[in-house]
Amino acid sequence: MKKTLTTLCAMLMCFLPLALCAQDNSKEGTNNMNGKKVLVAFFSRADENYNVGYIEKGNTQIIAEMIAEETGGTLFHIETVTPYPADYMECIDVAKKELNSKARPTIKGDAQVEDYDIIFLGYPNWWGDVPMAVYTFIKKHDWQGKTVIPFCTHEGSGLSSTEGKLKNACKGATFLKGLAIQGATAQNRQTQARQSVMNWLGKLEIKN
Ligand SMILES: Cc1cc2nc3c(=O)[nH]c(=O)nc-3n(C[C@H](O)[C@H](O)[C@H](O)COP(=O)(O)O)c2cc1C
Repeated sequence: MKKTLTTLCAMLMCFLPLALCAQDNSKEGTNNMNGKKVLVAFFSRADENYNVGYIEKGNTQIIAEMIAEETGGTLFHIETVTPYPADYMECIDVAKKELNSKARPTIKGDAQVEDYDIIFLGYPNWWGDVPMAVYTFIKKHDWQGKTVIPFCTHEGSGLSSTEGKLKNACKGATFLKGLAIQGATAQNRQTQARQSVMNWLGKLEIKN
């Protein structure tokens, strides 16, 4: 009996580390970020939106969650203290006024950008720009030496001039190639959206 127990323990000692390794590898997914600390910060709005009707989870949030799953990154949702109207047309009015006045709406909480190496920055394309709350978030932090990787959802505009605007705002950061995914694809065709995310992540050149 004692001998059987000793043999069992020895087998466990041999195989447990292997089992734990296998578990760790599966968490890393297919997209190794070279051991860097990864933050996935995103703005996203649920409720009524163009082309998708009323949604429970914003299009950009769906993509942000995929990126976090694939990279092991930490998610941070950039949310305004005052929520946007649920009605699409009312939201358009508020957002347009904010854009025209270069508003910096107050956001809930924060993420310590300074503690990370790579920051995936996600947002919906709003008239060729990022929602003003994204600038509120950017202005709170020091971007020197960080690697920023933009991603957006949109309904036709792609990334347009958002990458250039973010480069101006995140002083001292290195930018890698961004990703644009149609909002309706993120919402309704998630297998396709995930494939685009995986292809893009696989091509990013993360420096050691
Ligand atoms: C205020 C506002 C402005 C928008 N402007 C554009 C635009 O200029 N070009 C575009 O392709 N889509 C535009 N859209 C559509 C969003 O970019 C698209 O629905 C996006 O997927 C929404 O992401 P979210 O659900 O994460 O907020 C706009 C949507 C809103 C609410």
